[in-house]
Amino acid sequence: MKVFINNIEYEADSNETIIQVADRNGIKIPRFCYHKHLSVVASCRMCLVEVEGVRFAQPACSTPVREDMRINTKSEKTYDAQKSTMEFLLINHPLDCPICDQAGECELQDVSLKHGDDHSKYLEFKRVVVDKDISPLISTEMTRCIHCSRCVRFGEEVAGNKELGLINRGEFTEIRAFIEDGVSSELSGNMIDLCPVGALNNKLYSYRARTWDLKQHSVISPHDCIGSNIYYHVYSNEIVRAVPKENNEINQTWISDRDRFGYQGIYSEDRCRIPQQKIDGQLKEVEKQSILKSLNKQINENVKKYSPESFGCFISPQSTSEEMYLFQGLVRKLGINNIDHRTNEQDFAYQDSYPAMPSLGTNLNNLHEFDNIILIGANIKTEFPILTVRFNDAVKKNTNIYSYHFINMQEDFDVKKNFVMNNTDLLSVFQDHSLESCRGKKNLLIIGPNITYFYNQSLFLQAIEAFASNINATVGYLTDFCNSTSGWVLGNVPHRLPGGEKIKTSGYNTSQMLEGNLSTMVFFNLDPDNDFYNSSALINALQKSSCNIFFTSFTTPIIEKYADFIIPITTYAETDGSYINIEGKFQTFNKVIQADKFTFEGWQALNELCKLNGFDNHSIASVRKDLVSLLTNVDFSKNKKIDYKTYPKNDKSMIHKNTLRHIYSTDQIVRRAKSLNQTNQAMNRQIYISKDLVEDNPNQKTLSIKENEKVFKISDFHVKDDLPRKTIVYSSSFDNKFTESKSTFVSLKK
Ligand code: SF4
Ligand code: FES
Repeated sequence: MKVFINNIEYEADSNETIIQVADRNGIKIPRFCYHKHLSVVASCRMCLVEVEGVRFAQPACSTPVREDMRINTKSEKTYDAQKSTMEFLLINHPLDCPICDQAGECELQDVSLKHGDDHSKYLEFKRVVVDKDISPLISTEMTRCIHCSRCVRFGEEVAGNKELGLINRGEFTEIRAFIEDGVSSELSGNMIDLCPVGALNNKLYSYRARTWDLKQHSVISPHDCIGSNIYYHVYSNEIVRAVPKENNEINQTWISDRDRFGYQGIYSEDRCRIPQQKIDGQLKEVEKQSILKSLNKQINENVKKYSPESFGCFISPQSTSEEMYLFQGLVRKLGINNIDHRTNEQDFAYQDSYPAMPSLGTNLNNLHEFDNIILIGANIKTEFPILTVRFNDAVKKNTNIYSYHFINMQEDFDVKKNFVMNNTDLLSVFQDHSLESCRGKKNLLIIGPNITYFYNQSLFLQAIEAFASNINATVGYLTDFCNSTSGWVLGNVPHRLPGGEKIKTSGYNTSQMLEGNLSTMVFFNLDPDNDFYNSSALINALQKSSCNIFFTSFTTPIIEKYADFIIPITTYAETDGSYINIEGKFQTFNKVIQADKFTFEGWQALNELCKLNGFDNHSIASVRKDLVSLLTNVDFSKNKKIDYKTYPKNDKSMIHKNTLRHIYSTDQIVRRAKSLNQTNQAMNRQIYISKDLVEDNPNQKTLSIKENEKVFKISDFHVKDDLPRKTIVYSSSFDNKFTESKSTFVSLKK
């Protein structure tokens, strides 16, 4: 149909409102309560516009268009209506723009500039609302609130967790958290962006800078495999805040709190800033210019003295694609095939039949097209918070979500059925191919990171593939790191080259390396204290190895104790890089801030080592060119037959021990983000045990757990009624390690 706005003809759909047509055509209409991703409440009346033939100005956000409708956004009638609305809104507003963090980007300020008056007729006292401490991430200045209810609707409609509400009436109306603890949604920071005034503010950014002094840079989230697009705002070479960059295919207009506040980890006190080398048994600071030469000399000596087969090379899947490409290139040119990025895994029998790289199996925009989505070992709320928005949308469009896990975890969308069982029972569900309710439907099975940690993951993958082909389902993966995709497709695995090409003689995988006799261990961008499937196995290997080389952004106790070389490298924000998200989207970003002068850009350190060995010299542009041509030629087809090995039989008296990935322990940057680690979710780090383990003696305060030959005493456990029998689940934590292996059997020592 056609409509006329300011006498110009525009095309419109019959289900559109005036504001939608205006927005699509770049015609400005002021608004406070309207937001394109929220329901329409038409409560602020700021968007009133003149519609020909209608006596009063109409709210553009809630008025549907009709054939030949004539709208005037610039008439006197429109202007008067908007001006009166502004006058009412400003009655109680404190007008404290000079000290408001929102100043310069405040919708109220902008609109009052155009429609407001230069003096107030209101001489009475203004109302004052007492602030509440609702979160370590959000500060409030509730006297500024104009009750647009965007924050309330966001919780209810997008985050699936209604934590703020409007209470009282008239003059006494207030936005309040429903519970004393305040706001705890993993997406809470989006309310700061939605708030059109300075009522909800970013606590970390409070009074740090004026918005007009900030420089904006785009980056890709390094905290999960979704690849959310983010803008970092930089003041004086420091990131002072993060906001979403709209990308309708990925994160739409939202980001998770982990993506918004995680950058704080970059400024952690344990940043590694100076190159160090062990000389006469002591770590000594050395010149930046000389460290790579000494390192290269040592590597080449060890290759000759011991052999390339005695090297073990590990890289974090949080590294950029450029770093991954150069790391494997350098290592392979030195004749080394013992390389892996899967440091949290322990069963690799499946690896030959794995696709070129893990994939969700669908696009995020198409999730709602599935009749059933079955989550296996994944908790969306804590592991992939931004996906809560997509799952909520899918549920609204009639997708049924089922969850299979070893622990009952809350989600912020409706789960049709939650199955909680121990690993053995979980496996039998998929070995028994009879989920009749899924037959004849469009099904998606999503394998979460917890499955990849299992001591028998290959058996699971095999059972899930067979189950999927039986019910004609798509199998998708959600990986534990942002760039596990590159780990695979760029050849940071012992059995494949970049592009997935098979190697004749495969190198050793992570567990073979740790259990073997390595002469030299190389770690790139890894936190050895937290990022290995078994810390004891790692420490054993480090003790046996004669040279341990760490390219790292942070100094950890293990690094300090065992390192022979420490090369300080940049984090993702201090270098040019790229990640491939779980849909296969290759996204690049440029350096946001300048790193310390003694720190190497990760890819440059690797390139320098290549040059010292007479290998190819690269630039970021040349590496990216290689990556793009490589990715266009990859065969992504899957071999559905998955190999597995024979596993020890489950003795019924044994206890299943699993690790639960804690939302703010997922990677080395976020572990160090102080504000995130002060939230309610962060406090919720527990060791959960099933109640049968204390049945005989419910008041038992300490348990002795025997794992391999070691005995751990745990006293701070929490008895969880709905945990399957004979189960211990411990939440991964930065400073409290109760771990030999991330997934294994243990027994109780009486
Ligand atoms: S706090 Fe902000 S977003 Fe929430 S109702 Fe008030 S003005 Fe609107
Ligand atoms: S934006 Fe239309 S009434 Fe608020």
